[in-house]
Amino acid sequence: MSDDTNGYELSLLELDGEELKFRAGETLYEVAQRRNKDVPTLCYDPRLEAFGACRLCVVEVDGIRNPVASCTTKAQAGMVVRTKTEALEKHRKTLMELVVSENPEATIDPLRGMASQELGVLAERYGADGSRFQGKHSGSSRPDDPNPMIGRDYDHCISCYRCVRVCAEQEGDYAISIKNRGFGTQITVEFDGFLSDSACTFCGQCVQTCPTGALNDLRARKHEDTPGELEATRSICPYCGVGCSVDIMTKEDTVVAVRPAMDGPANEGALCVKGQFGWEWIQNPERLTKPLVRKGGKGGELVEATWEEALERAAQGFAQVRDTHGRHAVYAVASGRAPHESAYSVQKFIRAGFMSNLVDNCSRA
Ligand code: SF4
Ligand code: SF4
Ligand code: FES
Repeated sequence: MSDDTNGYELSLLELDGEELKFRAGETLYEVAQRRNKDVPTLCYDPRLEAFGACRLCVVEVDGIRNPVASCTTKAQAGMVVRTKTEALEKHRKTLMELVVSENPEATIDPLRGMASQELGVLAERYGADGSRFQGKHSGSSRPDDPNPMIGRDYDHCISCYRCVRVCAEQEGDYAISIKNRGFGTQITVEFDGFLSDSACTFCGQCVQTCPTGALNDLRARKHEDTPGELEATRSICPYCGVGCSVDIMTKEDTVVAVRPAMDGPANEGALCVKGQFGWEWIQNPERLTKPLVRKGGKGGELVEATWEEALERAAQGFAQVRDTHGRHAVYAVASGRAPHESAYSVQKFIRAGFMSNLVDNCSRA
């Protein structure tokens, strides 16, 4: 049975006893998600092509002997699907026990990354401590990588490949890949080197999608022992004019991390290296809190001044340049970090103050 709505061919299947419509190409997981079914996942990231690595999202389909991975199985008309049965939950528990058996600890600090709690939450849900299948381990950490932003603790890796896929599919960078197979499987970069010697742009996408904290935010982890509850405040990254949405993570009055907002209209979960990792200056004790002017003019020592003194000195400097070299000797580039009002003031300053159009904004690039 089918009908046509909004240009889509809609067909019917049965999900947990309920007859549902689906669009051509939809997976069973996507159909289940629309009905808020509680189907666990580990290798799934809605931004990425489904991969079918962890098998946690298994569902039962009438006529198919074994459970199928719902994230990679396309919905078909007439299917009869079950998302939660005793047998499925047992199957998922066994899978979790296998995964956890070679992970040093499922419960890790949430500051490691946005998705870092996924494994721990599922391990707890299924009571999987890994003791049943203890034995060989995969993944060797790279504590020798000197980069100060991304920790590479591959002994926590479960080979879900979310990092590899997000780097390729979202960042278009292909900086990381997989070497070897089975227990020898390892996430790595070309020639097995350091991230800074690879094509990595340090966008942090791999860190934020990693469900185990194997790839982790080293700057945020400095605050693992900072007291206070972890809280998120939605904001806009001030670095350029794109307007990426971010969550500023705090513990009491201390900024402890910045995370990309998956629902940010301008970035949809992406950030650049500055937005992701360039936030420690916020709390730098050497930040200027008062204006400084040079004592005795050019080359002199910088000393604290009042705003009136500082503005007066700046005005004198501009006037001197204009009087000596003419009005086109002054050129302004407004910062992309500044709000609209400031950008407007800069062009007004140049146009009205110097009768010139030599003004630009770095966001224009
Ligand atoms: S930080 Fe970005 S570019 Fe670097 S490996 Fe991770 S996803 Fe790829
Ligand atoms: S490092 Fe993290 S995201 Fe990458 S494969 Fe391992 S567990 Fe998955
Ligand atoms: S979420 Fe479907 S196989 Fe991993």
